[in-house]
Amino acid sequence: MTATLPTTTFPNGVSVPVLGQGTWHMGESQATRAEEVSSLRLGLDLGLTLIDTAEMYADGGAERVVGEAIAGRRDDAIIVSKVLPSNASLSKTLRACEDSLKRLGTDHIDLYLLHWRGGVPLSETVEAFERLQQDGKIRAWGVSNFDVDDMEEVEELAPGKVATNQVLYNLSRRGIAFDLVPWCAERRAPIMAYSPLDEGRLLGNATLKRVAAAHGATVAQIALAFVLATPDIIAIPKTGRPDRIRENLAAVDIRLTDEDMSTLDAVFPPPSRKRPLEMI
Ligand SMILES: NC(=O)c1ccc[n+]([C@@H]2O[C@H](COP(=O)([O-])OP(=O)(O)OC[C@H]3O[C@@H](n4cnc5c(N)ncnc54)[C@H](OP(=O)(O)O)[C@@H]3O)[C@@H](O)[C@H]2O)c1
Repeated sequence: MTATLPTTTFPNGVSVPVLGQGTWHMGESQATRAEEVSSLRLGLDLGLTLIDTAEMYADGGAERVVGEAIAGRRDDAIIVSKVLPSNASLSKTLRACEDSLKRLGTDHIDLYLLHWRGGVPLSETVEAFERLQQDGKIRAWGVSNFDVDDMEEVEELAPGKVATNQVLYNLSRRGIAFDLVPWCAERRAPIMAYSPLDEGRLLGNATLKRVAAAHGATVAQIALAFVLATPDIIAIPKTGRPDRIRENLAAVDIRLTDEDMSTLDAVFPPPSRKRPLEMI
């Protein structure tokens, strides 16, 4: 088990571990709720302080699970939540944020993202984010599922303000490495990689199994180690099982060799040209 987790820094100076905790599908079933809360709490105990959630997940239910997990220990957590594009107008964003704060049981969200781009002019959402930040309701804001052209637009509207872009990135979805990763690196905005296990689809891959066996590791750990091998990328796997929190955490100590990378490249080729941004 690692003693100190590697970190990256958001443009506002807040340092975060490069491994966080996802929450999609949490709060959907009463039967698994207690275990979900326990997983998040164990993660916090072990230093996985970054918790990613959204008003969309379980229609607010995931934020309530997070609220329960951080109750009495708000300062241990760095909370990321997201506003739906259908709520991204000025007035609706302000309201959506208040609703998220209530469900989370906190007076501030550390990082508030536009979940994906919809029909509302970006300038309006940015204005809402800026107002929420001035009011202390959010500490920073960013976007999700934005390709490079969208990022350029947001950068023009509010230079240097976008803290992150949360996008799909894993071994079988490597497109962003071609353009978005260098774009964000140049602006020192870490990328949050969602679905780092491709929602579990990577787990049966034969090549990954071979690489995992050579490291005495699990396939999930190798898939996470691949994502974490890119500097300033934060992986946010979701698990509602405490045993898997420990397993996923141990991935930060795995170093893939050049030979491992060549083996993985042969099966999951890196992009050689621009690919449109994929999303789930
Ligand atoms: N911004 C966006 O548009 C967007 C889109 C998708 C996701 N996200 C965020 O990113 C997070 C992660 O993505 P994701 O949930 O889609 O997919 P993921 O993290 O790639 O995979 C989650 C799945 O893998 C399983 N799993 C986790 N650790 C495992 C392990 N060590 N061994 C075997 N199975 C394991 C989980 O099941 P158990 O829970 O049973 O362990 C779950 O079924 C989400 O929860 C959400 O917070 C954001």
